[in-house]
Amino acid sequence: MGHVLILGGSGMLSGVALQLLADGHLVAVVGRSRGPLQRMVVRAGAAADRLVTLRLDYYDIPRLRGWIAHEQLMQGPIETVIAWVTPPADEVLQAVAAEVNEYQAAVGWTLLHVLGSRAAREHQDPVLTGPCRYRTVTLGFIREGTGVRWLSNQEIAQGVYLALAATGPYIVGQVEPWQERPQ
Ligand SMILES: NC(=O)c1ccc[n+]([C@@H]2O[C@H](COP(=O)([O-])OP(=O)(O)OC[C@H]3O[C@@H](n4cnc5c(N)ncnc54)[C@H](OP(=O)(O)O)[C@@H]3O)[C@@H](O)[C@H]2O)c1
Repeated sequence: MGHVLILGGSGMLSGVALQLLADGHLVAVVGRSRGPLQRMVVRAGAAADRLVTLRLDYYDIPRLRGWIAHEQLMQGPIETVIAWVTPPADEVLQAVAAEVNEYQAAVGWTLLHVLGSRAAREHQDPVLTGPCRYRTVTLGFIREGTGVRWLSNQEIAQGVYLALAATGPYIVGQVEPWQERPQ
């Protein structure tokens, strides 16, 4: 994977970033608030020199594109993007793809789009050009004994991490039967 960008990576996906750092990757995390990003730097410990944090609203497309171009110029091509983007996400994903494609003429790269259960039900893949392998990971719920519950942040982070190694769409927990989801 090498160089990984996580959009919306300072909340429930912070565990994915820390695991990728532990695996030896270079990880860039985008969020808007300073506090959660700073806490990630602290938690990264000795691996913090491979963690890039950026305070940015991903809907600010010109800034997002400019920063991705700069990041790739400084650190080399991004090979994997994990996108936890509040819908509507298409414009953000298309902007990311356009910038990452610039550095990926031959090799190809992966865009893993994280979807909440509800968003996944109405989801349509965005139209993306270039050498981008687009995949989704859907966050579901868990059946436990006779009850059901939503995924914990730890389960979400672990599931998204496992989804990176999968091929095709991936579901963490279950999304069917939908009428049995937690209320
Ligand atoms: N099973 C399911 O279907 C499911 C789905 C979704 C969520 N959940 C649960 O709901 C809880 C809360 O979800 P959440 O969405 O608040 O997730 P979160 O991952 O805790 O927060 C969203 C992340 O995206 C960043 N972000 C949001 N808007 C942004 C923007 N415009 N630009 C840049 N970064 C942005 C946030 O940082 P900043 O706020 O600092 O920008 C943060 O890093 C989770 O803990 C999870 O347990 C369950």
